[in-house]
Amino acid sequence: MAFPTDRPRRLRSTPAMRRLATETRVHPADLVLPMFVRQGLTEPHPIDAMPGVTQHTLDSLRRAAAEAVADGVGGLMIFGVPEKRDAQGSGATDPSGILNVAIRSLAADLGDATVLMADLCLDEFTDHGHCGVLGDDGTVDNDATLGRYAQMGVALAEAGAHLVGTSGMMDGQVGAVRAALDAAAHPQTGIIGYAAKYASACYGPFREAVESALHGDRRSYQLDPANRRAGAREVALDLAEGADMVIVKPAGWYLDVLSDAAAVSTVPVAAYQVSGEYSMIQAAASRGWIDLDDAVRESLTAIRRAGADVILTYWAAEVAAGRRSGRFPWV
Ligand code: PBG
Repeated sequence: MAFPTDRPRRLRSTPAMRRLATETRVHPADLVLPMFVRQGLTEPHPIDAMPGVTQHTLDSLRRAAAEAVADGVGGLMIFGVPEKRDAQGSGATDPSGILNVAIRSLAADLGDATVLMADLCLDEFTDHGHCGVLGDDGTVDNDATLGRYAQMGVALAEAGAHLVGTSGMMDGQVGAVRAALDAAAHPQTGIIGYAAKYASACYGPFREAVESALHGDRRSYQLDPANRRAGAREVALDLAEGADMVIVKPAGWYLDVLSDAAAVSTVPVAAYQVSGEYSMIQAAASRGWIDLDDAVRESLTAIRRAGADVILTYWAAEVAAGRRSGRFPWV
């Protein structure tokens, strides 16, 4: 009988051996917590489709943000939900609009203790729910939208965002926002470009979280899930236009796209584990069908293994807190 000469199981024999031999660790400092703040709320409102995630009041946002930062998350990505919406998404550029107000308070509370990011997109603020403004023919007008993004970028920089997250998938958005920030004397405000953002079913729960007004879909601007090469092209464009970081989104179903981006990017690559990815795992775990902590660990580890330097995840604060308590010791 022939014995194996190569025995890879040696490196898997004990927890200590596995810890030493691991190729991939997830550290809370690499995680970004997405958070929702809603104008006019008097108390935090749980999001049905995202168990454990809430729409915050300004006050509860400030408390939860301070806690997450104290627990060690690497950054925060803030989304605003306005009371009133209109065709131009005026609330996005109004200094007293909810997102700008929230960024201003968080910047005052936290200073440079965290990386404060703001979603730069019109969809939460438009009455039609699209990520841009509409032309006369009812379709999204790319170039008119760039002007609105430029204004929104400057408003968010003035409110104190360190990074603005261009998530609308308009052509030329990174370049337009970069030029506007520089012209408005905000050369230090950075851009985290949603470079490869796919038109995904996984955004369903998010649309409840922001009470999206959208009818129809975003397939004329977000990427076709079938297209890997198109994702690489968008990453290259965001890099050429000056993005400081690029994002692949969603994360778990797009690890090939993420791996492509990581192979070529000259800036950090982030992946966004989106609402549907979160909610699918939460739902299965709540029925006892999968183990929550194991699934959280494996999903985040896989995203990192594929090449993400940074991960946006709704579990960021739990993972950071769990590192101390021993629930998530795997750093
Ligand atoms: C658009 C935006 C979306 C998400 C983040 N930014 C929704 C969309 O494109 O429909 C989704 C995030 C998630 O699902 O967690 N501003």
